[in-house]
Amino acid sequence: MVDTDQIRRSALDHLWMNNRDWVQMAEEGGPQVIVEGDGIRVTDTDGREWIDANGGYASVNVGYGRTEIAEAMREQMSRLIYFPQGSTTEPLVNLAAKLAEITPGNLERSWPVTGGSEANETAIKIARAYHKRRGEGGRYKIISRRGSYHGALGAVMWAGGGGMREDYEPEYPGMLLAPQPNPYRCEKGGATPSECAVRCAQAIEDMIQFHGPSTVAAVLAEPVSASSAAVVPGDEYWPLVRQICDRYGVLLIADEVINGFGRTGKMFASEHWGVVPDIMTMAKGLTSSYLPVANAIVTTGVADAFAGEDSVFKQSLTFGGHPVTAAAALKNIEIIESENLVGNSARVGAYFLEQLESLQSDHPMIGDVRGIGLLLGIELVQDRDTKMPYPQEAGVRPRLDQALHDQGLILRSAGGRTISMGPPLCMTESDADEVTARLDRAIGIVEKGLQTP
Ligand SMILES: Cc1ncc(COP(=O)(O)O)c(C=O)c1O
Repeated sequence: MVDTDQIRRSALDHLWMNNRDWVQMAEEGGPQVIVEGDGIRVTDTDGREWIDANGGYASVNVGYGRTEIAEAMREQMSRLIYFPQGSTTEPLVNLAAKLAEITPGNLERSWPVTGGSEANETAIKIARAYHKRRGEGGRYKIISRRGSYHGALGAVMWAGGGGMREDYEPEYPGMLLAPQPNPYRCEKGGATPSECAVRCAQAIEDMIQFHGPSTVAAVLAEPVSASSAAVVPGDEYWPLVRQICDRYGVLLIADEVINGFGRTGKMFASEHWGVVPDIMTMAKGLTSSYLPVANAIVTTGVADAFAGEDSVFKQSLTFGGHPVTAAAALKNIEIIESENLVGNSARVGAYFLEQLESLQSDHPMIGDVRGIGLLLGIELVQDRDTKMPYPQEAGVRPRLDQALHDQGLILRSAGGRTISMGPPLCMTESDADEVTARLDRAIGIVEKGLQTP
């Protein structure tokens, strides 16, 4: 029997949680403590069932409660829990081969790590070291896009344009920010998704020319930006960015940490536009979060620069390539393939998007609904014509978070401005109906509250 009060008190005394403080959490009665999960639903210590509409951190791709993955982990654990220095293990080798098979083009060689931030740090180091080995050591700058997120550590904390970084100054050198190709709010004034795509791609070329190609190492970007609430660029964007990178010898790093493993209705989102990046990073869906593992996979062209004793990529991480995580990843990919969860993500995602769009007619505060596969976003505005967001004083965020909670949805808004969803890919149409109905009620309650101050 779980002593819920004791666990909550202990969490308040000893635990530091993602972006939360214990004073406010104490006022709310302590953190929510989850004890079990099945599919898209989880149960807390009070026995209440919730829909986890963002599937962990858009990361529980196959859904909760897959005992086959637990069994694969247990089997590997009882045989071999780690490996002696300088050696490797069968599950890890099999995983590297499997990833080479399912990633597009000639992405062939994997550098396994433990999380998405580490994967992107590794990708940046590979890009810089690659140029150095080719006699272009001046290339160190990394172009990413405003409104994206690539991780919480080191250099990648300065990639993308999120807030909350002032505590960690000084900024990492050489991190440049290009516009996000968001057709709903095109920073470059593009009136259509195509126009926005072309102008935002052009902005990357302009930036490379302004800084000088001999200083730019890589473009780091998510094919579909999750942290901008599922921004799907116009179709021109990715082929153009690929061409621009090739034109100036800049490496293209696709951050598929959220996008990968079926999230957008393809195994990898780069496939929507037929673009093969030079380096692809992956995490979350690689094990559906059953264990922490991530990876940077590179093309043979990039890998070749590191062949030979004098060219070794100098990095070593104790837990990169852990055999038990590899066993979990292999079983997870097997489930994604055998249950066609990629196809389900495309099909149910398209249905879910339609249902969310239908909410717009009843809720004037829904400015935009967007996404692809089961990576979906809603943008909230005070005025649809001007697209003005609500001011912070309106208190949309606390009202909305409370309303979502009351509806039994585990889902938080970003500052009351956007709601992003990345549910498990085993979601059914009836699950999508259920989430839509709960969102309908929650947003209705917020709109009513805003009218009656
Ligand atoms: C696109 C993207 N890249 C990288 C990361 C960082 O991954 P992690 O939290 O595993 O370090 C995240 C995390 O949400 C992400 O969404």
